[in-house]
Amino acid sequence: MTRQRKKLWGGRFQTATHEAVERFSASVDFDRALVHYDLRVSMAHARMLATQGLIGADDQQQIQTGLEEIAAEVEAGTFPWDPALEDVHTNVESRLQAKIGEAAGRLQTGRSRNDQVATDLLLYLRDASRASRRGLLELRGVLHERAAEHVDTVLPGYTHLQRAQPVRLAHHWLAYCEMLGRDGGRFTDLLGRLTQAPLGAGALAGSTLPLDRHATARELGFEAPAANSLDAVASRDTAVEFLSATAIAMVHLSRLSEELVIWSTAEFGFVELSDAYSTGSSLMPQKKNPDVPELVRGKTGRAIGNLVTLLTVLKGLPLAYNRDLQEDKQPIFDSAATLRDSLEVTAGAIATLRVDVERMRTAADDPMLLATDLAEILVREGVPFREAHQAVGRVVQNCLSKHLDLRQLSREDLAVFHPSFPAAASELLDLERSLEARSLIGGTARGRVTAALDHEAASIRQGLDALAAEESEP
Ligand code: ARG
Repeated sequence: MTRQRKKLWGGRFQTATHEAVERFSASVDFDRALVHYDLRVSMAHARMLATQGLIGADDQQQIQTGLEEIAAEVEAGTFPWDPALEDVHTNVESRLQAKIGEAAGRLQTGRSRNDQVATDLLLYLRDASRASRRGLLELRGVLHERAAEHVDTVLPGYTHLQRAQPVRLAHHWLAYCEMLGRDGGRFTDLLGRLTQAPLGAGALAGSTLPLDRHATARELGFEAPAANSLDAVASRDTAVEFLSATAIAMVHLSRLSEELVIWSTAEFGFVELSDAYSTGSSLMPQKKNPDVPELVRGKTGRAIGNLVTLLTVLKGLPLAYNRDLQEDKQPIFDSAATLRDSLEVTAGAIATLRVDVERMRTAADDPMLLATDLAEILVREGVPFREAHQAVGRVVQNCLSKHLDLRQLSREDLAVFHPSFPAAASELLDLERSLEARSLIGGTARGRVTAALDHEAASIRQGLDALAAEESEP
């Protein structure tokens, strides 16, 4: 039996929508996430209509009260969501009609679901961008705290996942703070472009009615009405930016996660995830698996996919609104939730991570990590770097084939490879000295790292203050 679709504005239709089409086109199961924004937008619109004399004050009052009741029903979980009513907007409209009758029919005056959904979405993106910034700042806070504990923890820095040069663990984790700081900046930049209200653009070409677009824009916390009505309903580039910023942040979390996975192997043994952030194997009793970072790494694929999804949805669309645009929502909601949750669990995993300082130190004690230092010592003696590189390469080769520790070579041993070595290797090479010698800006010397920690603490504080100030605005 075909269910009779409840058409709210079915004037020109003679038959009901096919059931399959109803199911196919319904979005309320996911776009109900917009309901609070939708209600706010409707309240602002009704107020403006009354001020402009387009609806009566009593109509506006009834609409306002009805929408407030609906908000309470949604909150209480008693709102009767109905997929047959297609989307969040029509569900609200139908409910309002049931509550207040005729006055409900005046709410859509001068408005289309096209400018309505575009406005809802920007409000959603505004909150989601701020939430992302907060989550990023909180993770930076945790990384900063752990970094501060590990200024004197030394591990090999890697290139190509081969031991390269020693670094402080604090320096290593502060690298992620830098990335996450830029990630937050991307959301801040985006917020600077979520400032134009689509509301009043109508279906695509505005309205013949004397709407006050400035009033609704202001009330909803926008700086101005969108300048072009077609652009207002058809564009989703800020949503793309949101997905892009989210995907980039997820990629950073994924790289951090990958390190946690590698570092917690028996082969590395640098860290151990706390029991609260790892799981066991259903088969192998000895296993402790890093599922949390693995899932963050895996979910990054989804976040990247969401970005590609929306770009692909948009690429062939003529102006202005097309129903394809309804496909923007699931990727956006999914990416927002994925980043939020990933930030939370990553912060927890890092906060509770056990660091094996000894294992790291032992790995960093590999004398080969000081080979670059040896070459740079020759450079200080006036040797061209390429020549120094060659000479030390031969020294290294010699040590490897004879199983010698680089640091044991006497001045005479070294002289076989280059006459300019100024002293015995034992006098020239030392892990601490090597770290301290890297004292350029951005380097791993103690003073540089502690200064970077201070700088990061100030930057986090500043970020949280700025966010709190913005959140106190409408
Ligand atoms: N659910 C729709 C969307 O998200 C709302 C706009 C519908 N507009 C329309 N002309 N069918 O895009």
